[in-house]
Amino acid sequence: MEKFTVHGPCKLEGEVVISGAKNAAVAILPATLLVKGKCHLENVPNISDIRAYCKILESLGSKIEYLSPNEMIIDNTNIKTGIASSELTSKFRASYYLLGALLGNFSQVQISLPGGCNLGARPIDQHIKVLEKLGATVEVKRGNVYASRKEKLKGSHIFLDVVSVGATMNAILAATLAEGITVIENVAKEPHIVDLANFLNSMGAKIQGAGTDTIRIIGVSTLSQKSSYSIIPDQIEAGTFMVAAAATKGNVLIKNCIPKHLEHITSKLKEAGAIIDEYETSIRVKMNERPKAFSVKTMPYPGFPTDMQPQMSILLCICDGTGIIVENIWESRFQYTDELAKMGADISAHGTTAIFKGVDKLYSAPVRAHDLRAGAAMIIAGLVAEGDTDVYDIHHILRGYENITEKFKNLGANIVYSNDNAEAEFDA
Ligand code: EPU
Repeated sequence: MEKFTVHGPCKLEGEVVISGAKNAAVAILPATLLVKGKCHLENVPNISDIRAYCKILESLGSKIEYLSPNEMIIDNTNIKTGIASSELTSKFRASYYLLGALLGNFSQVQISLPGGCNLGARPIDQHIKVLEKLGATVEVKRGNVYASRKEKLKGSHIFLDVVSVGATMNAILAATLAEGITVIENVAKEPHIVDLANFLNSMGAKIQGAGTDTIRIIGVSTLSQKSSYSIIPDQIEAGTFMVAAAATKGNVLIKNCIPKHLEHITSKLKEAGAIIDEYETSIRVKMNERPKAFSVKTMPYPGFPTDMQPQMSILLCICDGTGIIVENIWESRFQYTDELAKMGADISAHGTTAIFKGVDKLYSAPVRAHDLRAGAAMIIAGLVAEGDTDVYDIHHILRGYENITEKFKNLGANIVYSNDNAEAEFDA
């Protein structure tokens, strides 16, 4: 069985370089399908979700040339079908971006109902609403999503019922090559949405307002790439190292990040007692004391990101006082608290609220990574705890964090990957 063994306690010190953003890359890769030609991408994170997406593109007919582990040229000249393999698309969430991206050039598109982290119900009604408003017919049956159009998609006025990252991305993808003007209101404003719009605009799309509540898209007939595009740094990876630095009373310079994207995390860490210095493309996090208690409510951007709440909870596990986390995005995001309880944390989680009574110390225990971000939290807990913490189900972690063991080791952590059944060398 695969696991990470984290030897704690440890004080993280040094510098870490942040990789490209997973949630931008998983939208930009399918966006390349809107171009009948070559796209050159840089700062692509080398993580298993991206490798899985590349396999899907290749199964559709893309030719991918890797210039380095983080740089690739995708040639979509020979894409012949909009029907994607159910086996490949069922494995992760972001495969639903193929719906919007492939409908630009194909009249029939099929994917499996997307998988991804188990965070409770993950409906796709808003994705369907967007595509139908643009003139597509969408049917969900026997675990597959079928989308078709008789003629080109047509611009429309769309109001999202919930602020959804995925539905906003899909609306941008589908409307880029649609005829006429599309206005989408109540959209998500995450940095990865702006990055998708910037990528498409760099190829000739006309997308205005990304990063605000309303996006306006003037449909264009073709796209072509003129120069390479570099994906933004990963906000959540940067936040994860910021929290790890604070939880271990460390001193870490987080390089290649965008401090503006991290404001909500910076502000909570300051409340907890961290000293934070911001530079143009880096942030230093120092912590000299036991964390103070604080409360967090997860919200769409620019609010506190749900994808940072499990990591942030480790500070509350060992805080001086009682802290509260309210989860407003996902219904089952507190499963990880049972794992932290095994390590001595005092947490009571009911529905959308978890109350953390700070304890003096965490102790090692075998724990599971319930999902990607919960897995990152288990590593941070292991760094804080006394003894050897074995973290299982680490495939979740490898979906979204590039070279995570190397990055932590460079900061002084003692973290070892092992696999009882392994014959091949670890390459994550
Ligand atoms: N929702 C609906 N209907 C829809 C779509 C969403 O009701 O059609 C609801 C969801 O149930 C949820 C809320 O809207 O309550 C927000 O969901 P959203 O669509 O924004 O989430 P997503 O696009 O499926 C992305 C990230 C997640 C991240 C969320 C929220 C990607 C590939 N995934 O998911 O990232 O938690 O936004 O910020 O971008 C992760 O990286 O670990 C991760 C889970």
